[in-house]
Amino acid sequence: MKLILLGPPGAGKGTQAQRLIDRHGIPQLSTGDMLRAAVAAETPVGVKAKAIMDAGNLVPDEVVNAIVADRLAADDCSDGFILDGYPRTLKQADALEALLKGRGQHLDHVIELKVDDDILVKRVSGRFSCANCGTVYHDEDHRPKSEGVCDNCGSKEFKRRPDDNAETMRSRLRTYYRETSPLVGYYHCKGTLRSIDGMAPIDDVTRTIEEILKS
Ligand code: AP5
Ligand code: ZN
Repeated sequence: MKLILLGPPGAGKGTQAQRLIDRHGIPQLSTGDMLRAAVAAETPVGVKAKAIMDAGNLVPDEVVNAIVADRLAADDCSDGFILDGYPRTLKQADALEALLKGRGQHLDHVIELKVDDDILVKRVSGRFSCANCGTVYHDEDHRPKSEGVCDNCGSKEFKRRPDDNAETMRSRLRTYYRETSPLVGYYHCKGTLRSIDGMAPIDDVTRTIEEILKS
């Protein structure tokens, strides 16, 4: 299964991808996570990307396309993958299509998570994640079952993202509507797009996605 989760910042792409990994035995390819790892490791890409990400802008297409091409070449992507946060521009979508064509592959589904802006801001400002395994939580809506302990790995360390503040979030939303939302029409025309309500409870969104994957 080759799947794209499309949607604005805070729509729930990462949350849903994490749930699909175990059920379907395929990896999540989050360009945001890959770029944050590059920033943390202070690689040449990470050093350039940091200021761009902190401002809520997009890292150049050629940089992200190269990262994704490398990652898709790994063995664990041969049976499928979940793309989370990529593609984010029409140029990235064209690059992905060319890359998959070269590998004799095609996308099975593009699922758009639709969420209103005011809810997105609330979600992002309350978000935190496990410092060890990356499981995503929220201050109000989705706390660990046992307070202060990650449900998934038992770690007691959590972290917040530097771009999860109101000012950067406004910039990320503007960037989304300008650069990424045209992909909705792009994939609609290709017949692969399914748009779903991303404002439903997390379990309901997962169920809707699973129904689409079965179809
Ligand atoms: P990236 O890391 O991709 O961030 P994003 O797209 O802004 O998306 P988020 O990770 O913020 O949100 P999400 O949809 O995964 O939501 P989540 O599941 O966490 O990108 C960061 C930066 O990297 C970009 O700004 C850019 O600079 C750069 N970048 C990345 N990819 C790039 C690319 N392809 N090209 C160029 N630059 C790139 O959920 C959010 C919160 O809501 C959580 O707290 C969660 O618990 C909660 N929640 C989720 N679902 C629900 C629900 N149904 N009900 C209630 N709460 C929910
Ligand atoms: Zn964890």
